[in-house]
Amino acid sequence: MTTTPQPDEQTQHTFRRLLRTLRVWDTELPAFDPGTAPPTPLPLFQQWLTEAAAAGSPEPHTMALATADAEGRPSVRTVMLHDADQRGWHFATHRTSRKGRELQARPQAALGFYWPAVGRQVRVEGRVTQAGPAESRADLAKRSTGALAAALVGHQSEELSSLAELERASRDAWERAAREPQTPVDSWQLYTLDAEEVEFFQGDAGRRHIRLRYRRSQDGAWTTGLLWP
Ligand SMILES: Cc1cc2nc3c(=O)[nH]c(=O)nc-3n(C[C@H](O)[C@H](O)[C@H](O)COP(=O)(O)O)c2cc1C
Repeated sequence: MTTTPQPDEQTQHTFRRLLRTLRVWDTELPAFDPGTAPPTPLPLFQQWLTEAAAAGSPEPHTMALATADAEGRPSVRTVMLHDADQRGWHFATHRTSRKGRELQARPQAALGFYWPAVGRQVRVEGRVTQAGPAESRADLAKRSTGALAAALVGHQSEELSSLAELERASRDAWERAAREPQTPVDSWQLYTLDAEEVEFFQGDAGRRHIRLRYRRSQDGAWTTGLLWP
């Protein structure tokens, strides 16, 4: 039996001290008046992402995507937001990856955005649908050579035997992506999360954080309400 190496006491102490000294909501944060919020969440989401980008939040178009397995065990990872429009929040991945398999079996997911520069968080929950092959292919064709090369490497979430194997596959993929920028990748799948609930959180230095939740009813109308922080 192997024992797990533990950090020594000093390292653990230093780490805990670091955690205690780190701060959130320590900068000038924007005001948010929920009374002026639009009746549907999409325009507010687009406004907040735009403002996060303008305020210098790095990579504001990346988000946490949570899915669950058959036993209800959640898993989460970062993916890129490809678009957000009337149909929903769009992202792409390999259909054969862990998240792809989980979405195939249980097409329900949650997204999380956090933009520290403006102290804002957005949570989105809803049902996920798969785009058709033509739309998935077109989405990949619009992306960078690197994105195509990464997609061409494939095998996402499978066990990798060595970094040398990845190196070889990646080199071939970059060459092919540069040579044939329209190469289709069959496992590449565009998804759309059709939001049923969207929550906007504006952090506040005095901890009077504002939480505004949008919920969509059966008839498609949105209702809003405040939540205790
Ligand atoms: C900033 C960032 C952006 C990423 N964007 C994507 C993406 O758009 N699509 C994707 O499949 N993986 C993306 N990844 C990798 C995923 O986080 C994850 O490692 C991979 O998709 C495998 O996840 P899974 O095994 O849970 O299916 C990104 C990772 C980071 C850190």
